[in-house]
Amino acid sequence: MRKSVLFDPITIGSLELKNRVMMPSMLTNEVHKKDGVPTDFHMIHYGARALGGVGLILLEGTGISADGRIFETDLGLWNEEQMVGMKRLVDLLHGYGSKVGVQLSHAGRKSEVPGRVIAPSAIAYSDEYRQPEAMNVEDIQTVVEQFKSSAALAEKAGFDVLEIHVAHGYLLNQFITPLVNKRTDSYGGSLENRYRIVREVIHAVKSVFSGAVWARISGAEYDEAGTTADEFVTIAQWMREDGIELIDVSSGGVINRAPDAIYPGYQVQLGSRIKNEVGIPISVVGILGSPELAEYILRSNQSDLIALGRPLLSNPNWLWHAARELGTIENYKVFNEAYERGKRF
Ligand SMILES: Cc1cc2nc3c(=O)[nH]c(=O)nc-3n(C[C@H](O)[C@H](O)[C@H](O)COP(=O)(O)O)c2cc1C
Repeated sequence: MRKSVLFDPITIGSLELKNRVMMPSMLTNEVHKKDGVPTDFHMIHYGARALGGVGLILLEGTGISADGRIFETDLGLWNEEQMVGMKRLVDLLHGYGSKVGVQLSHAGRKSEVPGRVIAPSAIAYSDEYRQPEAMNVEDIQTVVEQFKSSAALAEKAGFDVLEIHVAHGYLLNQFITPLVNKRTDSYGGSLENRYRIVREVIHAVKSVFSGAVWARISGAEYDEAGTTADEFVTIAQWMREDGIELIDVSSGGVINRAPDAIYPGYQVQLGSRIKNEVGIPISVVGILGSPELAEYILRSNQSDLIALGRPLLSNPNWLWHAARELGTIENYKVFNEAYERGKRF
């Protein structure tokens, strides 16, 4: 019997990955010039994870517009200079064996960037955040267009995956949740109306981006008046129909409240329900740094990919150590002969 499946290749829709470990998006706030352009830091930071053998690296949350960034030190993808920097990064990571994705994001009411703050309704996230302006239909169309132009730049930069950020209480998530979306027009009210902008963004992005289009959702909002688990199953069905190839399931961030308990694998059942009922591939995340737990989740068919955030921040060579722990070091392919000596050490 094989010792592990964590190191097995997998094909998800149009994407082939050499193993089942993905680095999820994590902001690094290292764009000190505030121009959204990747720096040497990004080359080294992501390059180290590529050398460590990570199958798919999703770059940190990347703004589709200057105002749409969460922080001024975020990456951006709304102009050619940013695209050229991203292309350099994508080429570099491809050269070291990883597939690469970008997470396109608009912060909505959670933006901490100077300028106009917009949201589906004029409700602030908390006392520390600014009161947003409720978006009119023209604002909604502008955001859809910005996602599209950003996706066209992602195509030029050569990304394998484009993940639309519909999680953690950022703009598209603000439309989904009835806790924030109090609109009475065709973008609010019923679940179908609350999903409308997401559908428009998916279609716009897919019209210009030829790689895999994924979405990240917050599958639990931790408030009884929020989007229900059944509604998330419906949303996942719609996403699948709209051409999303994988749903990256996270949770929270919608309102200023944390879940009661956070423990290894606490978000897995949110994703596995969607996977089983909708039949769409998923990725799960959240304290999954134990190789045995990751292996169990995959073997029990609860997820297709394992996303490791903080475990990969603390250890770019997580896969190497996981292979040792699972007794499957022969399945871990190091970058070159010199690294091979480390395997025998
Ligand atoms: C420093 C840091 C930055 C993050 N930035 C993002 C982000 O840009 N986009 C996103 O969807 N999630 C972001 N997250 C959440 C992670 O992708 C991940 O879901 C979370 O850390 C839980 O997984 P873990 O227990 O493996 O760390 C961030 C997390 C950390 C620790």
